[in-house]
Amino acid sequence: MAATKKVFVKTFGCQMNVYDSERIGEALGRAGYLAAGSMEEADLVVLNTCHIREKAAEKVYSELGRIRQLKAERRARGKDTLVTVAGCVAQAEGREIVRRAPVVDLVVGPQSYHRLGDLIERTRQEGRALLETQFPQESKFAHLPERSAVRRPSAFLTVQEGCDKFCTFCVVPYTRGAEASRPVADIEAEARRLVETGARELTLLGQNVNAYCGLGPDGRRFSLAQLIRRLARIEPLARLRYTTSHPGDMREDLIEAHRDVAKLMPHLHLPFQSGSDRMLAAMNRKHRVADYLEVVERLRAARPDIALSTDIIVGFPGETEADFAATLALTGRVGFAQAYSFKYSPRPGTPASTFGAQVPEEEKIGRLLRLQAHVGRQQTAFNLASVGRVMPVLFERAGHRAGQILGRSPYLQAVHAPGPVARVGETLDVEIVGAGPNSLSGLILDPRCGRHDAGARAVC
Ligand code: 5AD
Ligand code: SF4
Repeated sequence: MAATKKVFVKTFGCQMNVYDSERIGEALGRAGYLAAGSMEEADLVVLNTCHIREKAAEKVYSELGRIRQLKAERRARGKDTLVTVAGCVAQAEGREIVRRAPVVDLVVGPQSYHRLGDLIERTRQEGRALLETQFPQESKFAHLPERSAVRRPSAFLTVQEGCDKFCTFCVVPYTRGAEASRPVADIEAEARRLVETGARELTLLGQNVNAYCGLGPDGRRFSLAQLIRRLARIEPLARLRYTTSHPGDMREDLIEAHRDVAKLMPHLHLPFQSGSDRMLAAMNRKHRVADYLEVVERLRAARPDIALSTDIIVGFPGETEADFAATLALTGRVGFAQAYSFKYSPRPGTPASTFGAQVPEEEKIGRLLRLQAHVGRQQTAFNLASVGRVMPVLFERAGHRAGQILGRSPYLQAVHAPGPVARVGETLDVEIVGAGPNSLSGLILDPRCGRHDAGARAVC
């Protein structure tokens, strides 16, 4: 098939969708599609969607409204446009999408991306909308083409998918299915390929990544810690991270990996959702505040400088002012480098959406603003404490301003510094000279730059 058709993939939502979109692009490359520079020039548009909160799902429908117009304009120019909805909205809403947005030609759930090329061909031939939202027997990973060159210093790698926790607010167990871990050998092969093509940092992804238990090469199950130790042997890989974790699955060997594995970065995203035991029980989180604090204590004993980030929900059904105050208190007690806070959003099909005592919208907004101010101060304090320090920064891309490059500290802080794009992909020592709530600014210290001597800063 001549590679004359073009595809544009638009990603909504989480890091796993970013990863999935890359793999969708690769699968469609095999089916003869080139990447389009914009949606206007695409013969095939794929929306890789997110269903986690109502706002995220509604964004997809407004995008489909715009695409309907675009499709009509292209048709007037004699060009066809196929529209595919992939991801978690596809899985959760299925045929409802085609009913609400007849512009859609294909709806495909997250477990069927390896079939995309065939499905698109069928849609084209049959001239009717198709739906593929089964959880197939075969694993998509075994049937997707090999990773193409990422040419990026930091890459995502899905190692685990789905969730068995069933928090009462969350759609993930329904949209992504039961927990499944990829075999170690597959992950290692993909990791090596990513590193060969330029990746120096890998972020291992899973909805509940620290519950990872994939089949090892010796026929036994590997924990996430064992997987990390194995991947750390790959050279010249410099950094490993993983996300997202559940406090209940923070096993001792994983905590020890934070102590022992130099490549494992001192940062952990560990959602706590609420600082009230009553709310945690209603959320079916399977942990209490004390359990969370104990995990934090063990982590900090193993790796004293570890930076923590978290997810918090405000306005869960039944949440009182006292429950919310407990959330503020826990946030203050732990001290987070970063915290993502959300208003509770009732999701169809989840238990909490039918709970009584839904919190009024104004109440939720008020609590969210108070929480955001609180965590904003913590974030700024964390970043300010970095000023004056020298940190290794892995530079990932050109910055927004000319002559600037952008990277990440070990603690996942964004760092920008004056420097040439040629240094992207390298880990360089950077003296931090400024801090804001969301980023740091620094100066590269580099002995290979002519102007560096005895503590002088080099702008190279
Ligand atoms: N409403 C609000 N926030 C939610 N999250 C998940 N489901 C909901 C919901 N229904 C948040 C949780 C989770 C993060 C990814 O999104 O905090 O950790
Ligand atoms: Fe959702 Fe995370 Fe709870 Fe699983 S552990 S149900 S993904 S919030």
